[in-house]
Amino acid sequence: MKPPQLAKVAEHWGQTRHPQEKTFFNFPPLRPYLLSCLSGREEASAGPDWSESWTVENYLRDKIPVQKCLSLCCGFGHLERRLAGMGVFKHCLGLDLSSQAVAEAARLAKEAGLENLAYRTADLNEEDFGEEEYDLIWANGAMHHLADPRQVVARIQRALQPGGVFVCNEYIGPNYRQLPYRQRELINAAIHLIPARLRSMSEGTFIPPQLRDSAWQSGLYKFLRLLHRQPAFAPVADFMPPASWPWLKRKLYNFFRWLDAGSHRRFHFGKVWDEASERTRRIDPSECVNSAEILPAISFAFSQVEIRYYNGSILFYILENKFFENFNLESAADREVLAMLINLEKSLLASGELTPDYAHIIANKDPNG
Ligand SMILES: C[S@@+](CC[C@H](N)C(=O)[O-])C[C@H]1O[C@@H](n2cnc3c(N)ncnc32)[C@H](O)[C@@H]1O
Repeated sequence: MKPPQLAKVAEHWGQTRHPQEKTFFNFPPLRPYLLSCLSGREEASAGPDWSESWTVENYLRDKIPVQKCLSLCCGFGHLERRLAGMGVFKHCLGLDLSSQAVAEAARLAKEAGLENLAYRTADLNEEDFGEEEYDLIWANGAMHHLADPRQVVARIQRALQPGGVFVCNEYIGPNYRQLPYRQRELINAAIHLIPARLRSMSEGTFIPPQLRDSAWQSGLYKFLRLLHRQPAFAPVADFMPPASWPWLKRKLYNFFRWLDAGSHRRFHFGKVWDEASERTRRIDPSECVNSAEILPAISFAFSQVEIRYYNGSILFYILENKFFENFNLESAADREVLAMLINLEKSLLASGELTPDYAHIIANKDPNG
């Protein structure tokens, strides 16, 4: 990746803070399902560290505390703080491209009194991890940002001690999340099954691909701001949508629907969602850059590999803010909706209509080197 693109990636990840509990990976009512995908049995409850504690329990119990651990693309350091809390290592180094994220991870470690965590900025497309340096290397949401997984995994394998463990928690679907047509069709169908109180996406609010283009959107925002006497160049987040916004969006939707009638991305009845891969690439050019290569790369470099898929091919895309915010765990109706969506995803995977988009992978380096 070229330096200007890397700078864009670093800047993006220096600012992005996902509230963990409002993501597919850590929404409390969904965790038991995700954990059950790893464990292969029904799970009644699962904590925020569901994937880490399952891994420690099943693969690391008789090895911990390991001497040296390396965390790739550590971001703000959630993973290392969790693993430190479980007594997984004596020392851990976290590496990330974003100096802002690294500084914040170091600050949070200090605040938590964790003296065995160290952080450094590095571009992992280039970084050499050394030879037989680490007992454990953990990549949480890391590999899908790296351009050449084969090269990086080869360096990881080399950097592990004989008998060392590589844990990789990842999106393993199509590069740049360019989802197959059938998957997009099923995602749209599934959104219609969610009651209105739990979803924001509906036909009237669908923003056609053209409108999601940043030039169009910022032009439109500027126009609306001027119309409503707001400063035209204020950040988009400060924009208060005027009362006419839904009306205008509906008109534009119909216009683009008419314009798109002959294109291959044709609108079809009920379309409320479309992949955002082009927009995502503009914001973060490293997002899913070569994700389809991750599993082949690990299977190529390690002879002992365990892959646990935790799916996400429907749920990752259809659960968004309104669901996370309005879902009431006390409500039997809400629990039933979630159970229906989980069963739908499971059935579509079991029947071969979909393939999983997320996997938790544990690879062991041969103890004989
Ligand atoms: C999805 S976040 C994962 C953060 C963390 N591992 C976690 O679980 O919270 C991806 C991280 O990858 C980092 N990243 C992207 N490209 C990178 C590169 N070439 N070298 C190092 N880090 C990179 C980003 O800065 C970001 O912090």
